[in-house]
Amino acid sequence: LFSCTVVAVLLSSVPLLELLQRVLDVTWTWPSPSEPALSSSEEALLCSAWLLTASLLAHQHSYNSEVHQPISLNLEKILNVVIFRKKKPALLLVGILQLLRFIIRQNFSSSLLVLIVQPTAQSSLESLPSEDDASLYPLTVRQVLSLVISLQNLLAQKDLLLSQTVVACLEALMEYLHVKNQDTALHVASQPWNRFLLFTLLSGGEKSFLCPEILRLVTLFARYQNNTVISQSEISQILQEATKANLLELPENISQALRLFLLQVQSRRDQIEPAQAETIQTLLETVPPRTRTSLKIPDMICLGGVAVSLSHIRD
Ligand SMILES: *[C@@H]1O[C@H](CO)[C@@H](O)[C@H](O)[C@H]1NC(C)=O
Ligand SMILES: *[C@@H]1O[C@H](CO)[C@@H](O)[C@H](O)[C@H]1NC(C)=O
Ligand SMILES: *[C@@H]1O[C@H](CO)[C@@H](O)[C@H](O)[C@H]1NC(C)=O
Repeated sequence: LFSCTVVAVLLSSVPLLELLQRVLDVTWTWPSPSEPALSSSEEALLCSAWLLTASLLAHQHSYNSEVHQPISLNLEKILNVVIFRKKKPALLLVGILQLLRFIIRQNFSSSLLVLIVQPTAQSSLESLPSEDDASLYPLTVRQVLSLVISLQNLLAQKDLLLSQTVVACLEALMEYLHVKNQDTALHVASQPWNRFLLFTLLSGGEKSFLCPEILRLVTLFARYQNNTVISQSEISQILQEATKANLLELPENISQALRLFLLQVQSRRDQIEPAQAETIQTLLETVPPRTRTSLKIPDMICLGGVAVSLSHIRD
């Protein structure tokens, strides 16, 4: 979407980065009973500012572009917007979660961002951060658990764009937890609530497991759990559905998510039976490998006056 040159030009513009900073800062005080409500175009500007900052963060990292003026953001405030929400529109949460996902993926370090980490009210009352808190720094266990619950609640809203963003954010978070503190990753992934969430997502309509967000979520749980969330029975249900489906005709987003799920369960021999291993192998040989044709599908949508790139949110 963004070429290296465009990113370099944007990141060298101090006025642009200062403007972004001012717009992002509006988020912390909005909506507030004492301030006039934002007009819909101001709201669109706010959402765009988060989406643009998220894109710049991702691209600054891939192109290693020079930044002339960093943006400063307070981590606790970002987390609190996601945790407490307070009637924030879905698109604003999409933008904020996109940014959070890239912040996590970059291990909370970027030359575009100055991340302000305050000692939280709770941990300053206690004498020292726990060992687990220290290993997850700059996150704390309490923040991780609150964030995960909020992400699960957002998923339960079944809004497609929000779900894609939330799943991508959860993927980044679980990867971070797994690298920093495996016990916390296992604890989060093995919560019985995850199983309940999955059934909530599968309920209603003709929902099947063959949906990109559900497959990605199942893959995520299968990777980090202790077999309490995804059991043999879900795995065999997915394999059955996949066996019945015409794999060559599946949309690319589903077939890619299915491929990653199959590779994940194949890598955990303790989660599957020998007969399943054979089915998985057969399916993997049939699922078409990733092609580039999907790039031709226009993926920009317009929401509340903001253009959003779907593949950018998804991948
Ligand atoms: C984040 O840290 C992990 C483990 O320390 C490392 O493998 C990974 O490459 C780092 N990612 C970035 C973007 O620096
Ligand atoms: C799986 O992990 C959860 C959360 O840590 C724990 O409560 C549960 O007892 C574990 N189950 C097994 C079978 O290890
Ligand atoms: C899969 O991708 C197609 C084409 O990009 C899109 O129309 C469809 O909504 C996507 N399906 C899901 C469930 O995301």
